[in-house]
Amino acid sequence: MGRGIYREAPGRMSGRHRFHSICPYFAMFPETFVERWVSKLTKPDEVVFDPFCGRGTTPFQALLMGRRALASDINPVAYCITKAKTNSPPAQVVRRRITQLENGFSRRTWEGMRRQMPEFFQHAYTRITLQQLLYLRASLRWEDNDADGMIAALTLGALHGESKKSSSYLSNQMPRTISTKPACD
Ligand SMILES: C[S@@+](CC[C@H](N)C(=O)[O-])C[C@H]1O[C@@H](n2cnc3c(N)ncnc32)[C@H](O)[C@@H]1O
Repeated sequence: MGRGIYREAPGRMSGRHRFHSICPYFAMFPETFVERWVSKLTKPDEVVFDPFCGRGTTPFQALLMGRRALASDINPVAYCITKAKTNSPPAQVVRRRITQLENGFSRRTWEGMRRQMPEFFQHAYTRITLQQLLYLRASLRWEDNDADGMIAALTLGALHGESKKSSSYLSNQMPRTISTKPACD
């Protein structure tokens, strides 16, 4: 992880980078906390290592600040989200892949798979959402392909995000928890 990010045009980099909000995560760091400590403890081009990176707040913020970043996490969800943020492909590559996936989707094919799912999942999602999730799970090569990695991370973000916060989030369970931390100064 952390081999670099696709940098946006400088004019669009001011304020909070939108990748920070790709997916909520338990006990996530606010990026302002990371920013303060990376700035206090490291210089540009130095390596920042977060062995328990969660959704990747530390490596991503470190890259934004001109540091190099290494990260690891035992949870594949954390790995997927962090990898997407720190190795993001150009938006047009992701859009092209989304179009390809849309064109390859057939409701009839995935309805058979949907019916084989445990009853819980059949009730948890609308018919087409579960069909699409099963299709994406089978189709995305998220570990090998950066566009697939970004689409997987965005999908995980939609699944984990609180539905009352945004209409593009689906979860009515996920609490948004910010990590407790000592006083910073
Ligand atoms: C509180 S979360 C980190 C959140 C992160 N600071 C952020 O901003 O998103 C702690 C992380 O440690 C990971 N973890 C726990 N035990 C681990 C282990 N033995 N090896 C690697 N990761 C581990 C968990 O999977 C979890 O993602």
